[in-house]
Amino acid sequence: MCAASFFFSMTLIDNEKPTILIIDDDSEIRYSLDRVLSRAGYQIIEAASGEEGIEIVKKKSPSIIFLDIRMGGMTGIEALQHLRSVDQQVPIILMTAFGTTQTAIEAMKFGAFDYVMKPFDQEKVLGLAESALKAVKDFEQADSYEPKLKSEDYKEGIVGNSPAMQEVFKIIGQVAASDATVLISGESGTGKELIARALVQHSLRSKAPFIPVNCAAIPDNLIESELFGHEKGSFTGATAQRKGKFEQCDQGTIFLDEIGDMALTTQTKILRVLQEGEIQRVGGSEMIKVDIRIIAATNKDMEAMIREKTFREDLYYRLNVVRIRVPSLRERTEDIPELVDFMLQILEKQKKAKVRKVSPEAMNVLCRYSWSGNVRELENAIYRSAVMAKGEAILIKHLPEEITNAVHIEKEDTKESSEVSNEEAEIAAISTALDSVFSTLKTEADGSLLKRLEDEMIIRAFNETGEDAAAAAKLLGLTQTDLKKRLKEIQLQE
Ligand SMILES: Nc1ncnc2c1ncn2[C@@H]1O[C@H](COP(=O)(O)OP(=O)(O)OP(=O)(O)O)[C@@H](O)[C@H]1O
Ligand SMILES: [Mg+2]
Repeated sequence: MCAASFFFSMTLIDNEKPTILIIDDDSEIRYSLDRVLSRAGYQIIEAASGEEGIEIVKKKSPSIIFLDIRMGGMTGIEALQHLRSVDQQVPIILMTAFGTTQTAIEAMKFGAFDYVMKPFDQEKVLGLAESALKAVKDFEQADSYEPKLKSEDYKEGIVGNSPAMQEVFKIIGQVAASDATVLISGESGTGKELIARALVQHSLRSKAPFIPVNCAAIPDNLIESELFGHEKGSFTGATAQRKGKFEQCDQGTIFLDEIGDMALTTQTKILRVLQEGEIQRVGGSEMIKVDIRIIAATNKDMEAMIREKTFREDLYYRLNVVRIRVPSLRERTEDIPELVDFMLQILEKQKKAKVRKVSPEAMNVLCRYSWSGNVRELENAIYRSAVMAKGEAILIKHLPEEITNAVHIEKEDTKESSEVSNEEAEIAAISTALDSVFSTLKTEADGSLLKRLEDEMIIRAFNETGEDAAAAAKLLGLTQTDLKKRLKEIQLQE
């Protein structure tokens, strides 16, 4: 929505201008945000620290708060908690340069309304402010109350800065306090189990047992006994009574992995657990109450299975209370460099390989490969490459052949050459990457193509170096003064 129409609609709804509090220790950020928001008709109050912001909220009641996550003194998350104790309802939008897993999940858990990444996208900022105001209105009308969540350190490593993964993290944060049944879907190797574990870690059942059951790996005739237990003598080999996973897991969470592979008869029994909260051992007559949360995962097309009548529709609706769709790695190639870095760190910690670098050319190949086995396949490839690199940086020559071959084939097609040297391959990779940048920018940039390209490089270098101006300037070949000037221009750009 453009700023003008936004202002117009706001003034029509409400004659009093909504007030926005901006808390950031960086005056340039406050200034640029102030400009965007005040032009859209908001009244702005600025605070240069978390402490100052809290004092302001005690005296005035802003409609929305924009809060920086990284500040000297009180951090954004600390300030968020304090602010929440002063005002339970005001929507707080966190501002972050790094969309880390931790930031996204923590922010949502502590009751942030949303978060926005720096440098700002003006439309996004305005859109967020608008939806925050709407949420307050809905909240007041609905008279509902969302309980505040407890603090918890987020430790499991789920990497993902891509918008698609950030959405996944948001849902994890949002359902953290509920006991809702969750259905996680996604291709093989996308991280479904990792996400199930994150859900549990952030749930009220985090201290209770978590039992994963791979429905595809257990034969149909054994799965019911495995899940529900059996009475002595109920079938050949049942020499003693045995408790199943559901009874062992009482108060905890069962992770039904590959639920699409579960036989229809077992599906019926799972439905009963969800409906009645009780199980029956195989060969038994007693109904046993269990208190279990179910998280299920599948890489199958469940909707198609329902049409083919191989999956019960009623069970599907019971499981699909919250749906998390995990994107394939192809849909988030921008996560690959960070995933690779994370995997190398783990290999080093596990003392399996000590490699800390990947050449830009090799990284380019990794980013262009299609990864049908998703993150698991990437993990394998990195392990194999790291072993081959023997302590050096990973170069193209260390990558598994099937990957370089697959990526090379495309170039061989265009160059009609059967042998492509690594150097040529690297040049071709850069050229292909630039081709797509060029075709995107040539239509959009209209006279500012070079500047747009430079801006993108500056933003990337700045983020990549952890906002280290000296390192970013060095990488870019700019002086620090020039870099700061350019960053400021980018912030102010409309
Ligand atoms: N976002 C991520 N960050 C870091 N590691 C990840 C991520 N996603 C997946 N992995 C790693 O990739 C591997 C595969 O993940 P996981 O087993 O959770 O996938 P899955 O979707 O359950 O696969 P499958 O369908 O084959 O069971 C694991 O070793 C996991 O740690
Ligand atoms: Mg799995």
